[in-house]
Amino acid sequence: MDTAAINWDALKEAATAAMKNSYSPYSAFPVGAAALLEDGRVVSGCNVENASYGLTLCAECTLVGALAMTGGGRIRAFYCVDAAGAVLMPCGRCRQLLHEFRAPGMVLMTGRGIRTMEEILPDAFGPENLERTP
Ligand code: THU
Repeated sequence: MDTAAINWDALKEAATAAMKNSYSPYSAFPVGAAALLEDGRVVSGCNVENASYGLTLCAECTLVGALAMTGGGRIRAFYCVDAAGAVLMPCGRCRQLLHEFRAPGMVLMTGRGIRTMEEILPDAFGPENLERTP
């Protein structure tokens, strides 16, 4: 993956714009996420909370919904921000969501620089693990 070709500023801007749609009255912690797809599209999402707290949708949840609803595809690069625009790591569950839709060599921006999907979710459970031998 040629990470130099990724416009991280544009991705951060898309994540920040998405964050502004956040519905987070319970945590008061707005989150926005954006993903660059293999075909050049950018999809985004924001966290959507619920009075039943455990039903909260993380920004990555709505992002993968947007991905499916706008033609599908695979993620090349990912950026997640908080209300201040600071980069955020995806939570454990959301790493799994992103893993499902990763392009080969997918990278993420983190507080410690660019990381691959494999680095942030090693030994991941994936579709191949569903293939059972009788
Ligand atoms: N949140 C996300 O949207 N994505 C993450 O990866 C981490 C957490 C949201 C969920 C909740 O609305 C708020 O951040 C505080 O946990």
